Amino acid sequence: MSKSILITGGAGFIGSHVVRWFVKKYPEYSIYNLDALTYAGNLENLKDVDTAANYSFLKADICDAVEMDRLFKLYKFDAVIHLAAESHVDRSIKDPLSFAKTNILGTLNLLESFKKYSDYQSGLFYHISTDEVYGTLGEKGLFTESTSYDPNSPYSASKASSDHFVRAYGETYGMPFVISNCSNNYGSFQFPEKLIPLFINNIVNSKPLPVYGDGNYTRDWLFVEDHANAIDVVFHQGKIGETYNIGGHNEWKNIDLIKLLCSKMDTYLDRPKGESEKLITFVKDRPGHDLRYAIDASKISKELNWQPSLKFEEGLDRTIEWYLNNQEWLESVTSGAYKNYYNKQYS
Ligand code: NAD
Ligand code: DAU
Repeated sequence: MSKSILITGGAGFIGSHVVRWFVKKYPEYSIYNLDALTYAGNLENLKDVDTAANYSFLKADICDAVEMDRLFKLYKFDAVIHLAAESHVDRSIKDPLSFAKTNILGTLNLLESFKKYSDYQSGLFYHISTDEVYGTLGEKGLFTESTSYDPNSPYSASKASSDHFVRAYGETYGMPFVISNCSNNYGSFQFPEKLIPLFINNIVNSKPLPVYGDGNYTRDWLFVEDHANAIDVVFHQGKIGETYNIGGHNEWKNIDLIKLLCSKMDTYLDRPKGESEKLITFVKDRPGHDLRYAIDASKISKELNWQPSLKFEEGLDRTIEWYLNNQEWLESVTSGAYKNYYNKQYS
């Protein structure tokens, strides 16, 4: 079966893994990666697939409705897997408008162009979303697909809004859609503003490790390739109009994860035991900081037979090794504008 699939945000962290996964596994599909190459997008992330016969890159901004119309008219995509977004909570606190623009209006542009120019009723719009739309959990309980939306940050509010628009296009125009809401991802090519790569980079450079608040916040971590696999499964087998929660059954308090990371880094860098932990610095908390995220992934597991494949410590080792072996990548993405962001955020 030949299919033309548009993947948006394919030059970012998760998107590049999804593009790689689909390009390699499905040579019969034409994969189009549409990305504006913001600070978070980098074509270096796709070096191993960028000459593949079934891969094309389209540099474009999803906020540009005219350009979206032009591209959808030209390529008549059969399906869209939508990942392009502003994704960092701290940035959303400083600049909520750009999150509303990209995450809400950008998504709306894609829905409109897909409706206007594709045979959309026999296609699929797959929206990649986050568990943050559910707000925060207390010490107990898990997010299920029927947990009410209760977003707390401008980022999660914008993602919640885009989820609602996708569902509304399904109800109103009969557009076939699926949505998945995933927990925190980690792995290679993650931009070093996010906790794990930021702290790896700071440990390498003996810089302070800025722990927000008391560090007793919990996240549920999933290896990014397990997320790419889940996206493949939902894309091919998910029921139209349904939502699937994706998570790692892998809850860590930030401070415990950071201590584990520090101890591993001491070994990798051949430093005395306890050296990296000395860099831990408790700093002002993130406003509106959600206490705990944890996913009940039983629906995707029972209905679509998906499970995370990797144990956390193994995934963390693979991630640390990747960053240590790709210092040039780290240096290139942390130079320039990122320096200004870093100084403002952590001064
Ligand atoms: P990222 O910030 O690493 O990448 C985002 C990509 O989108 C970049 O390549 C960027 O250039 C592109 N982009 C941004 N604005 C654009 C625009 N206007 N037009 C076209 N392209 C644009 O993000 P990520 O962490 O890979 O997240 C990808 C998606 O997955 C997002 O929708 C995010 O909400 C969702 N998600 C992320 C996580 C996570 O832990 N990182 C977890 C669950 C869901
Ligand atoms: O849950 C899914 C979400 O996970 C995704 O939708 C988001 O795109 C992704 O960025 C991520 O959001 P978080 O806010 O959970 O990730 P972040 O890596 O920014 O922070 C993880 C935890 O670490 C969080 O409790 C805040 C804390 N933290 C983060 C940074 C950057 C610190 O203590 N210090 C820091 O410097």
